[in-house]
Amino acid sequence: MVKPDLKVKIGKLELKNPVMTASGTFGFAEEFKDVVDINRLGAIITKSITLKPREGNPPPRIVETSSGILNSIGLQNDGIEGFVKNRLPLLKRIKTAVIVSIAGERLTEYEELTKRLDKIDRIDAIEINISCPNVKGGLEFSAEPRSTFEVISLARKNTNKTLITKLSPNVKDIGEIAKAAEEAGTDAVSLVNTFSGMAIDIETKMPRLGTVVGGLSGPAIKPMALRMVWEVAKRVKVPVIGIGGIMDYKDALEFIISGASAVEVGTASFVNPKATIEIIDGIESYMSKNKIKHIKELVGCLKV
Ligand code: DHB
Repeated sequence: MVKPDLKVKIGKLELKNPVMTASGTFGFAEEFKDVVDINRLGAIITKSITLKPREGNPPPRIVETSSGILNSIGLQNDGIEGFVKNRLPLLKRIKTAVIVSIAGERLTEYEELTKRLDKIDRIDAIEINISCPNVKGGLEFSAEPRSTFEVISLARKNTNKTLITKLSPNVKDIGEIAKAAEEAGTDAVSLVNTFSGMAIDIETKMPRLGTVVGGLSGPAIKPMALRMVWEVAKRVKVPVIGIGGIMDYKDALEFIISGASAVEVGTASFVNPKATIEIIDGIESYMSKNKIKHIKELVGCLKV
């Protein structure tokens, strides 16, 4: 049998396969380049960058829970200038799509970031993180359809690059937010970001995270994320990118069958740095075994 075709289109971007690294879990590729064949990935999505450098939140910033990770990093990064100087050179050598995640506290920050990234040829797409739970302002944009529409419209005015809007699960109706992003001109939506959560040390009676509350990722959130992807895929025409506790190729396939055109893998890379590659191989074997020629045949094929 011929090799199955895993190529997917997200806006103007053609990915060699549907498996990307979730923002914040793969650094800027440097940290993984000796362990993972980065060129095999569908795309790498960087840690979110902001306009100015940020030191991040007080420690502890990461806590392991029984079935996932709680984090509160606080968008630690070198800012756009640090990114261009220190991170872009390696990204320029990578032979797969590079998607830069951006975050901000104000509309003007998103505007300036999209303007600056638009001028950098090597960047294939921008993921707009309007759902960071750990900084002031981070969640506010994705909390309401109106503010989502505002920030995405502004980004759209400033770039022709493919735009992906990353949504928060900590909202009343995620379908409504996805719709607002689509009306504002996003090329795709990615969901979900982390669920708001906390953990306590009963001996010290102290919170386990420096900021008390943080974002939960990993297997614990998968069924909820899957339900949201299924709902959003029915509401929007743009491609949906599934995220949330994808640990192996079977999890990835569940998201694709529910309606996701592609997936992002995050927490799994902390457990097994090669998880992304194993997921690509697993999807390909599944397709061969089931005589599926193109990944498109699987997207949203849920029998209900
Ligand atoms: C951070 C955490 C997130 O879940 C996110 O989407 C963006 C940033 C952080 O704390 O840095």
